Amino acid sequence: MEGSAQHLWWQSGVIYQIYPRSFKDTSGNGIGDLKGVIEKLDYLTKTLGVDAIWLSPFYPSPMADFGYDVSNYTDVHPLFGNLEVFDNLVAQAHQRNLKIIIDLVPNHTSHQHPWFQESRANRQNPKRDWYVWRDAKDDGRLPNNWLSVFGGPAWEWDEATGQYYLHSFLKEQPDLNWRNLEVKDAMFAVARFWMERGVDGFRIDVAHYIMKDPKLRDNPPNQSLGTEMHKSLGPYDSQIHLYDKGHSDVHEVYRQFRKLLDAYGEGQPRTSIGEIHIFDWPVWASYYGKNLDELHMPFNFSLLGVTWQAQAVRERVDTLESALPMGGWPNYVLGNHDEPRLASKLGEKAARVAAMLLLTLRGTPTLYYGDELGMRDVPIPSEKQQDPWGIRVPGLGRDPQRTPMQWDDGSNAGFSSPEVRELWLPLAENYREVNVASQLEQSDSILNLYRSLLAYRRANRALQVGAYHPLDDVPEDCFVYLRETTDGNQVLVVLNFSSKAQQLHLNGLGKGNLVISTYLDRTGEVDLSSLPLRGDEGIMVELRS
Ligand code: NOJ
Repeated sequence: MEGSAQHLWWQSGVIYQIYPRSFKDTSGNGIGDLKGVIEKLDYLTKTLGVDAIWLSPFYPSPMADFGYDVSNYTDVHPLFGNLEVFDNLVAQAHQRNLKIIIDLVPNHTSHQHPWFQESRANRQNPKRDWYVWRDAKDDGRLPNNWLSVFGGPAWEWDEATGQYYLHSFLKEQPDLNWRNLEVKDAMFAVARFWMERGVDGFRIDVAHYIMKDPKLRDNPPNQSLGTEMHKSLGPYDSQIHLYDKGHSDVHEVYRQFRKLLDAYGEGQPRTSIGEIHIFDWPVWASYYGKNLDELHMPFNFSLLGVTWQAQAVRERVDTLESALPMGGWPNYVLGNHDEPRLASKLGEKAARVAAMLLLTLRGTPTLYYGDELGMRDVPIPSEKQQDPWGIRVPGLGRDPQRTPMQWDDGSNAGFSSPEVRELWLPLAENYREVNVASQLEQSDSILNLYRSLLAYRRANRALQVGAYHPLDDVPEDCFVYLRETTDGNQVLVVLNFSSKAQQLHLNGLGKGNLVISTYLDRTGEVDLSSLPLRGDEGIMVELRS
């Protein structure tokens, strides 16, 4: 559905993230692929009812970081298909009015990318300066104290040319030098390539990392022992990451990137969503641009690390609302391929309340594949571990949240055909109960809750684009807010974050029509001046004006 004249698809719609390796395997190798996504387009649009998909990387890659190490930005890895399959995916998605957002990885390439191969060939190579090369300090020490997110120093010695190169992630992911304008031109050409193939937008990997301190100064130590992030990142937290990312020159790059997207926007508005783990809200908000002329949205990760308690969540939402620049469009994320699964963090009942929260707050929600089933983190035995982060820094592995989608109760869960001997990651043990086919049959399943929430949201302008008004004077364990349009369409959302029953007295609101409970077992008239709520229940009530 297109938004109204003032709101575009990426504002009124819901985004669903697909991790292509784990969605649906059609080739029989235990790894998902793009034909698998095509096969499931009706699931996405008709059964579930989302508006856009974001595909994590499907490009040629040696897979040191499962595709976030790209060796060719303008092709498809044969594991996933080819450009023809990709074009078919875009065409078939667009026929269903489903938008396609792809992952752009501008901070680093694979060490096997021809650009890096040339850059490391010799110091005179024209692409030498496309990456960040530095001499050792006089006594042979590293150029500075920067750390790799994935453990160890961010510098790797290159014996052949006698210099270090910078890698903010794995040594197989050398950082590009965005201060060289040819790098910018090359990456903008990549964006053009995909827009010409019809993509509707980009999710930009670690968008703030591309510009570092030009003098490459040492980061100060982090004396607080805490983390600047939403979760602990192990040894990486021993520094304040002042100089290794987010230099203010980054804004000019995104201003230019926005102009590029706008130039392709006539008749097909494109979007850009930055993966920006910044929790200092004014700094985070600066990525919208002073004149809303940079990224359409920096991902908002404020609810990932929050204590799951009504007032704490409300506080994060209100802080975010007040940090937004005038006209800046909000968005919310509760899960992705880097984070523990929602149902594992919260349990199923609270995960249902979380679903209602995500799909009723003001702003674009991004859902992570499988969360609609309440999929859980799957314990991975050490010999099956894949994620390099978990192998390097035990405890930080992301395999548990990347396991194959659970489609049905057959062997291989309908992810791969039954003859396939081994999937790239093991299936959840509970897949015979927790899968799409079974949950569609079960009227009160979490999948049916997501479907109801999505269907209701689709038909309701107050939820898509209306204002947000939190209500005070409610029980401490409840978060209550109104979504409303100026023409009087009002939906009240009442969420009980505790397992205890609650009695609410929302005087002055009269009676309303309860349209969805997270238990999916009641609808109809309710008296808001005396409103009982069960433990872990969320409800949505249409108000009468
Ligand atoms: C962020 C991505 O979400 C993550 O999966 C990846 O490992 C790093 N960026 C490096 O590209």
